[in-house]
Formats: sequence, C-alpha cells, structure tokens
Amino acid sequence: MRFTDQFTSSSLRVFALALALLSTQLLACKTSVEEDAVPSKQPEEVAATNTEMATYSSTTVNFIKNASLKGSFSIPIGVAVIKERLEDPVYANVVTREFNSITAESNMKFGNLHPEEKTWTFSKADAVVAFAQKYNMRVHGHALIWAKDSVQPAWVKNFKGDRAAWDLMLKTHVQTVVKHFKGKVASWDVINEPVASDGTLVDNIWLRKLGIDYIFKAFKYAQEADPDAKLFLNDYGQEFGGKKMALLLDIAAQAKARKIAFHGLAFQGHTVLRIDPMKFYTNFKRAADAGLLVYVSELDISVRYQQPSLFTLTTDLASSQGSKWKAIIKAYLTAVPKAQQWGITTWGVADCDSFFNHNIADNNHDYPLLFDSKYNPKPAYKGFVEAGLGK
Ligand code: XIL
Repeated sequence: MRFTDQFTSSSLRVFALALALLSTQLLACKTSVEEDAVPSKQPEEVAATNTEMATYSSTTVNFIKNASLKGSFSIPIGVAVIKERLEDPVYANVVTREFNSITAESNMKFGNLHPEEKTWTFSKADAVVAFAQKYNMRVHGHALIWAKDSVQPAWVKNFKGDRAAWDLMLKTHVQTVVKHFKGKVASWDVINEPVASDGTLVDNIWLRKLGIDYIFKAFKYAQEADPDAKLFLNDYGQEFGGKKMALLLDIAAQAKARKIAFHGLAFQGHTVLRIDPMKFYTNFKRAADAGLLVYVSELDISVRYQQPSLFTLTTDLASSQGSKWKAIIKAYLTAVPKAQQWGITTWGVADCDSFFNHNIADNNHDYPLLFDSKYNPKPAYKGFVEAGLGK
C-alpha cells in the first residue's frame, strides 16, 4: 500500500469513528438524572411545560399538551422497557404518563433469567414487574423460548441428554419462569419467531431436539403453570401474509385440535415507512377470523430506507411517519374485533432507546419511535393518539 493510500484509509477510519461518536452524542439517551430530572412534577405539568417541543409545529405542541397515549384508547397501550432505564426519571415519567402496559425488552429472556442450568437471576425482571405494579400497568412476558440458536445461553447449546431430558429441561424453564411471575404477568410470548419467511419452521436447537412438539409442549407447560395467563406466539412479518402466515395459522389450528391453550398471535410489527397498511389490515383480520387474540407486540416504524448512513429526521419524514403510525393503528382497530384486541406495544420509549440504535457504531441509526431522543412527542405520537380517538 502506498503512503497516500494508507493515509487516506486511516483518515477515513478516523473520520468514520468521529461520525460514529457524533451520532452517539446525537442519539444516546440521556442517563444523567440531574439535567432533565423532573421528579417533583406531576406528569401533566411536565407535558405542559416542556419547552423543547418547539422542534415540531405548534399544532403538534398544542395537541400533545392535552393528550396521552393510554388516555386515547380503551385497550392497553404498552412499551418495551429496560430495567436500568427505568431509573432515569425522564424516561420513567414518559413510561408512566403515556402507557399502561409494559414488556421487558430483554430482562425476561431465557439467558437473562436462567444463565446456567441451576442458576436463576430474577432480580432485574422483578424490578420491572414491581415498577409496573406500582403504576398499575399490565405486564406482558417476553419471551419463554426464542427459536434462534444465537440467543441460547451456552449451557443450553451444550446440554447433553435424550429427548426426555430436553423435554424436562424445556418444562423446567417454562414452568419455573411462569410460576415465578404467576398473577403478575398477564400474558406471555411462549414462543418467539419460530417460522421463517418462506413458511418453514426456523431451524433451532429446540426443533432439532423435540421436533415441532417443542412449540406445543411449551404452550402446554405454560398453561399448567398459570392457567390464567394468555399465551401468544410472537413473530415478525405476518403482515406479508404468504406461507409464513399460513404456517402460523396452521400451528394455532393444530394447538386447538390438541386442546392446548394457544390464545393469540402477536405481530411484532417492526416495520418501515413504505409499508402498505392494508397488508397489516388483511393479516390482522386473518388472525382475528381464526378466533385468535391479536396483539401488536413490538411496533416501530423505521425511516432509514434509502437514507445516507447518518441522517436527520426531516419535518417531511416525521410527518409521513406520523401518518403511517396512524394508518397501522387504525388497521388494527378496524380489522380486529374489540374483544380480540390484546393491545398495542411500541418497542422502546424514545428514538435513542430503540434497538436500531443500540449498535450506533454500525451507523445503523434510525428514528422509529413515538418520542424523539429528548423524550418529546413526535408527529408519530400525534398519529397514534388520533387513531385512538377515531380522528
Ligand atoms: C431485541 C432487543 O431490543 C435488543 O436490545 C436485544 O439486544 C436483542 O433483542 N424481536 C424480538 C425482540 O422478539 O426480543 C428483539 O429485541 C427485537 C426483535
């Protein structure tokens, strides 16, 4: 390599690093409680006195002064939270002001609750549940079994045993967790992401050891542990219908035939600005027509498509995103009969909390949520509220 090439490539690397750091600055959630802390104020006062809302039009600002997400709906409106972030009063204030349902973004996942065969670590998940109880929020449990090899703890990957031993291990995990939270967690994602987009079962350790029965067994064990909990299969991309949706509905029908409690289908709804909301409508309706509860479990709307790696959210983008949130929520409210609407949960509080922004060094940043990185409501929030109010 010539000196100039070397110089150019190392300069580029420095430049890229600087950009990544800059974007971290722009998007990182504030964790300092001193600057923005408003713990002495009631939620309504905070909304009304927040001067940073000027980022958006005065119509939006006036609108949100008088609104809240949960107050605009008669079904639970939820948010995915991270235990440590609940200790930031700015974050916690938005959570309690706007939402009445909580999902732990990762604190209840297999490896976090059960990192070794004989080790159980419930304290962070318990803290999330205690927070929810303090503020009268419903808890949705996520997730008992995730059908993906990369997320299994090492001890599961290395577990040795015959089919009966795997079955017992699955049962022990599911029942220990469900019993631990019995009466505190209203619903569970029993199985997460078991079906690939081509309509085949995702190859993963549970499938290899137990066949498709791992799905039915997990539901059965969960039901035995807490007969009152509503049990869901959670997946992504159902809005595209096709073979994936067909297999998901088939699994639900097979569970019913085996008299196994399988209450609902959860649509994650990690989606993009260019999505046609009719796709959601059609497939929400198919799930509802099958007699299932329908839950929107992880909604966010990425605006990153065809954008440069670092970009800002323009007024136009923010406004289109608001219209899209409104259209998807409306699709849900119209496609699913009220009695089958389990609720709508967004995957994170502010843009800076979104898992799209967890690996900022990849320049993978985005603005998918209802609140900007200063915890001010975006036009997305307005769209969400309007859908709830039937506007
Ligand atoms: C993601 C979390 O948001 C990240 O923080 C974590 O690192 C990986 O998992 N579908 C799911 C969620 O069911 O569990 C995923 O959550 C997002 C995609």
